[in-house]
Amino acid sequence: MNKLEKIYEGKAKILYTTEDPNLVIQYFKDDATAFNAQKKGTIEQKGIMNNRIASRIFEHLQQHGIETHYVETLNDREMLVKRVQIVPLEVIIRNRAAGSLCRLLGLAEGTVLAVPTLEFCYKDDSLGDPQVNEYHIRALKYATDEEVKAIKDMAFKINDVLKKFFLDLKIELIDFKLEFGRVGGRIILADEISPDTCRLWEVGTGNKLDKDRFRRDLGGVEQAYQEVLRRVSK
Ligand code: TMP
Repeated sequence: MNKLEKIYEGKAKILYTTEDPNLVIQYFKDDATAFNAQKKGTIEQKGIMNNRIASRIFEHLQQHGIETHYVETLNDREMLVKRVQIVPLEVIIRNRAAGSLCRLLGLAEGTVLAVPTLEFCYKDDSLGDPQVNEYHIRALKYATDEEVKAIKDMAFKINDVLKKFFLDLKIELIDFKLEFGRVGGRIILADEISPDTCRLWEVGTGNKLDKDRFRRDLGGVEQAYQEVLRRVSK
């Protein structure tokens, strides 16, 4: 499968068409941004690590009945995925408070949430991906009610599967961000799941094994991603 034409370049990935109109190649870059790209940098080998980690996670989710855009891993930095129309929403699930939820509600980092929460953000970098609710989504036709229901059901199921997956690796899944796509009238999981898009804390030590190390200049960024890769590869 060859890369033909670049169709999209985001902050961390590039998408290329292939000979098959239903398949695209997702290329993982080392570029990292935070705070709506106000902070920019690179994380050495991140693209290679995230491609491997996301591949492993997609395979695991598919084994648990969750349909994803993942088809196969092509090489170090490239993954073959189904071409979808991306739903313009970022879906955030949280098990403990961290990041923007702590700022919003004045919570201590790590506060356990009695049940997992879900937030929708409208995917628009120029607006800083603002939070929206289901009324906005309906009124502005970002997604249909049926799609919103499918997305919520899938997101909570993904949380159940991934909480267990990571806990078996002595990692606690604190929160994460998902993106979904439409294909053939269905909603499937798209984008990536990696230390860029999750908060992952080592069980016992509480060590952060995710992009917060970059966001907050904690050091040991590459090592944290490497550690997640090592554990998911077992
Ligand atoms: P937040 O606490 O900054 O809202 O982030 C919640 C989770 O979503 C965290 O795991 C990081 C992830 N995330 C992304 O993957 N992309 C984004 O643009 C943002 C804001 C968060």
